[in-house]
Formats: sequence, C-alpha cells, structure tokens
Amino acid sequence: MKRLISLLLAIALLLSFTACEAKPKTDDLGGSNSSDVDNKKPSSSKFKRTDAELSYDEDAPSLYEAFADWFEVGCAINTWNLNDKNSPEYQTITKHFNVFVLENESKQDAVQRTEGNFNFDAMDKFVEFGEETGATLRGHTLVWHSQCPDWFFFDNGKEASAELVLERMKTHIRTVVDRYKGKIDTWDVVNEVIGDGGGLRDSYWVQRVGDYDGDGDKYDFIEQAFITARECDPDARLIINDYSLESSEQKAISMYLAVKKMLNDGVPIDGIGFQMHIGINTDMDVMRRNFEILGQLRDIKPDFIFEVTELDMSVYNWGDNNATEYTKDIRNQQTQKYRELFEFLIEQSEAGYLDSVVFWGMSDNHSWLNKDNQPNYPMLFAREWKLKDCYWEVLEVAHENTK
Ligand code: XIL
Repeated sequence: MKRLISLLLAIALLLSFTACEAKPKTDDLGGSNSSDVDNKKPSSSKFKRTDAELSYDEDAPSLYEAFADWFEVGCAINTWNLNDKNSPEYQTITKHFNVFVLENESKQDAVQRTEGNFNFDAMDKFVEFGEETGATLRGHTLVWHSQCPDWFFFDNGKEASAELVLERMKTHIRTVVDRYKGKIDTWDVVNEVIGDGGGLRDSYWVQRVGDYDGDGDKYDFIEQAFITARECDPDARLIINDYSLESSEQKAISMYLAVKKMLNDGVPIDGIGFQMHIGINTDMDVMRRNFEILGQLRDIKPDFIFEVTELDMSVYNWGDNNATEYTKDIRNQQTQKYRELFEFLIEQSEAGYLDSVVFWGMSDNHSWLNKDNQPNYPMLFAREWKLKDCYWEVLEVAHENTK
C-alpha cells in the first residue's frame, strides 16, 4: 500500500514537473565555459558537462551538495591523502564528500597489532580532519575475521577460551570507542559475519565463542560486540556491515534472520551496511528484492536504517583476471548502471531507509580493485581526478529528482 501511494505521488509530481517546464537556463548555472559544454546533453540538463569523458572542470558541482536532500555522500581515504591541503586529492575529496572512513588504518591489525599495544596515530589524524571539516566519520571496523591479528584467538599456542576471546574483543572495542566517543559518528561494529553460502561465517570468532549463552544460536560474539559498543558510546550509530547483500538472496535472508533474532533479543543494532561492491552487470531487480527482504526489519525496529558503505562498480566480472580497455561501450554500460543505482538509492532514501552512501576509494587510481596487470575503473572520478560520464550522470539523476 505504501508503495502504491508513493508511486501515485511520484506520478503526480512528474506530471506537475512536466506541466511547469520551469527548468533553469543552462547559462544561469554553474559549470565551465560554454565552449566546453558537451552538446549531446539535453538542453534541460541542469549541469553543464565539460566535454564528455575524462575532463577537468573546477566548477563542477559538489556531489554531496547535489544529493543533500537524500543522503550524505562519502569516500574511503588513507591518512596520507590528508597531508597536503593544497593537493588535488584533498581539494577534491573535501569538495565532493561529507562522510569519510579509513580504508585500512582503523582495522584491528592497524590499531592493535600486538595485544595491549594500541596505535592511534592514524585515527587521531582522521578525527582531527573530521573536526576541521565537520564531516561525518565512520569507524571501520571493530570486529572482523580479516585484517585481525591471530593473537586474539590463541593462548600460549593453544586455542583461546571463549571467555578470553570475548574479553579481548571487548577490551579492543572499549579502548577504541571510548577514545572517540562523540567523534566517530558511526561504527561498523562487525564486518562480514555472514558466509558466502548464507548462514554465519565459520570464522575464528564463531569457532571460539560459539553459543556462549546457550540460547541455540552462535550470534554471541556479535551480540557482545554491539552491547559493548553501545555502552561506550550511546549516541554512535552501530552498523552490521557485509558484502553481496544486494546480490545474494541467501546472504540477504541470513542477514535478515540473524538481525531479526538479535533485535528481538534487545541487541542494539541500528542498521545494516551494504558494502555494494557491484559491477556493470549488477541486477537491479535482485537488489530491489533483497532490500525489501531486509526492509522488513523495520517491523521490529521502526527506525532501522540502511547505509551504502563501500560502493564501487567494477568493469570486470568477479574472478575474471583478464584486463580490458575502458572502451566507450563499457563506459556507457557503467554510466547507465550508475544512473539506475542512484535512482534506486534516491527511492530508498525517500522511503526513509537510506541516509548515507560511501564510495570505497576516491578516483579510479585510488581503488583496491586495481590489480597488477588489471586496471579497474570503478569510481566516478578518473585517474588524476578527471570527471567521468558517470559522475555527470549521477548529478543528472539528482537534478531530475530535485523537487
Ligand atoms: C580492503 C582495502 O581496500 C584493501 O586496501 C585491503 O588490502 C583489503 O581490504 N570489504 C571491506 C573492506 O570491508 O575493509 C575491504 O578493504 C574491502 C572489502
């Protein structure tokens, strides 16, 4: 019913828009000199494009400002990106993004490589940057099976007991969350706890802690992680983060069942992070269905929220090791997919589910998806910060949906 009403509303809005035709003249709007304008764009376009793919445009509109009605827009950074405020990377990220997350430097192996020896140099710098810019900061991640040192799980060469593993986990969470209380807005409390085939991932965390409270499930380390984080910072948003939730129904259902059980048990989970490492062939219908499955968590917690936490769009299928040219055809497919995605994300925001979209990287050469012998092109900015068609396209989507 709700969807029917929003559909009718959307149609009414569309009709009123086309009736008014009060579109701004392109000359009145920001952008580059008219000689640079890409003439293939419709004249109703709000944003003047610099001449097609791979150009610079200092006046190009800010991404986060364009999407301010719907969600914040962010990116993953490394603290060395912050060294020079005059650098193109610093200038670009602060212009276009208002949420930031560290790509690696706040993971367990970076913060507590050996037991009891915490290194906060990078996180302190990150938080200082957040205070200077007023940006929203995400903490990634408190508990993960990867980039987590083995010492958490062993005791003098033997398997550590459930008690010891839980105590170490809690000490890590307390030390980090306490330090940044009120400064880091959102925590990925646990990362990637669902297995590839569905069900809980069989990680050391599950193996060691197991069904600690004897209630028949093995969510116990997750429950304790959230409870501990909440005790340390009652105002931080606490997220359960995972990949392929938008593409694997099995994973979406497993996540739904796990979170439903934990919410019913009073575990303080505020929302789900969809990593969204997607591709140019990602199926939007499957994505929509999986969001609907997880949206049912609202029946239990009405303000349950979704975030997109690690967005990128590979031009390769998963497992494909051959390199490709970034051909016009691939660029067009990617631009179209970015359009469909951002239309969908706006819908999700308007339905009240989503308020944050974060890219995993900044430009095509600041992306973990680049491999030796296989360059990738997953972001809205090209190498050297040139603007891509997909950048202009998502701005266009924002404009079309602006009321
Ligand atoms: C990745 C980083 O981008 C890489 O630099 C690192 O080598 C491995 O981790 N899911 C996550 C992120 O939650 O932490 C991962 O980041 C990408 C997949």
